[in-house]
Amino acid sequence: MFELNLEINHFLDTYWQKKPTVIKQGFTDFIDPILPDEIAGLAMEEEVESRLVYRDEKQQWQAECGPFESFEKLENDGATLLIQAVDNWHEEAQQLIRPFRFIPNWRIDDLMISYSTPKGGVGPHIDNYDVFIIQGLGKRHWRVGDNTQLSEFAAHGALKHCEAFEAIIDVELEPGDILYIPVGFPHEGYAVEPSMNYSVGFRAPDQNDLLSSFADHQIDSNENAERYTDRVMQQREKAGRVEEQELQELHRVMLANCATPKQLIPWIGKMLSDAKHDLDLAPPEPAHSKEEIIDELNNGAQFMRLGGLRALYFEQDSESIFINGEQYNVSNCSELGQLLCDQDEVAGELLNFLNDDEGGLALFTALVNKGYWYAL
Ligand code: SIN
Ligand code: CO
Repeated sequence: MFELNLEINHFLDTYWQKKPTVIKQGFTDFIDPILPDEIAGLAMEEEVESRLVYRDEKQQWQAECGPFESFEKLENDGATLLIQAVDNWHEEAQQLIRPFRFIPNWRIDDLMISYSTPKGGVGPHIDNYDVFIIQGLGKRHWRVGDNTQLSEFAAHGALKHCEAFEAIIDVELEPGDILYIPVGFPHEGYAVEPSMNYSVGFRAPDQNDLLSSFADHQIDSNENAERYTDRVMQQREKAGRVEEQELQELHRVMLANCATPKQLIPWIGKMLSDAKHDLDLAPPEPAHSKEEIIDELNNGAQFMRLGGLRALYFEQDSESIFINGEQYNVSNCSELGQLLCDQDEVAGELLNFLNDDEGGLALFTALVNKGYWYAL
């Protein structure tokens, strides 16, 4: 269990999405939940997204994507191995996300872990997400600049850098220290000694993400799309002109299915709950029966939500929950559905909902049999 030493309300008011800060000893007596060897093991897996960044003999930046078969580059200084979405693959490492759940689940992107040899880093860059960078093993020197306009360029096909910046934070992180960097603040970190860094990232969709995803959803789900029709057509003098009320009607047709936030729920719920990386899905064989689930809970079993699985509901809609890109009807078991979205793990308290609720028991059994929740 990781206990975060942080005055949360003060942090949210003063720093969250506003300015970077160092949380010195955010975790006291920090112990790495994963070993460098395990990181290397993950980087050998096909399903796991990994990258190796280093500078060659001519000091040119190089970046290679995994899976990797060997790690000679990590025998030298100046190399970094990065693994995306480790929360999907490693139960202990996943625990590092929990202390940050004061930000809601739907904002969490993933847990990225890097292992760097001395002088290793990915160079000066700007991220599209807010990030808490936790120092594990070793020490790393970090510089963070202000969020002024900086030019960005490809230092390598797979590595975007920004121009040099003046530091507003210049710090050497030690195990248990945390650096918070909001979206848009340039930063660079280089290991002082072999170093592990854990980045808990929070990504928000931008306008283009939202519009393109909504357009895809609309095309897939709306076969009988409303078409623009002329309300009144009168003889025109200016054949080249689109009249104001015609533009208004085009705008109305275009937005008819997304005019209110509530109309967006079926799409936005699926989009936000869709896993961004492969999940480590292992549906139980044979499938659990409803009775077995009740027995397990009665015997003290805890059910964990699968690492990286996204589960959410909307304040405005008590009839549905969304899990891994799918909508589930919970009109007869909304408290259970919401509990499953709110808690990382559930145990005996579930019995209050399951014992006298057939709908809830059927739902939970189906979710367990998909591998979304598993007994510890
Ligand atoms: C790293 O851990 O090397 C990269 C973290 C970051 O700068 O976002
Ligand atoms: Co970064």
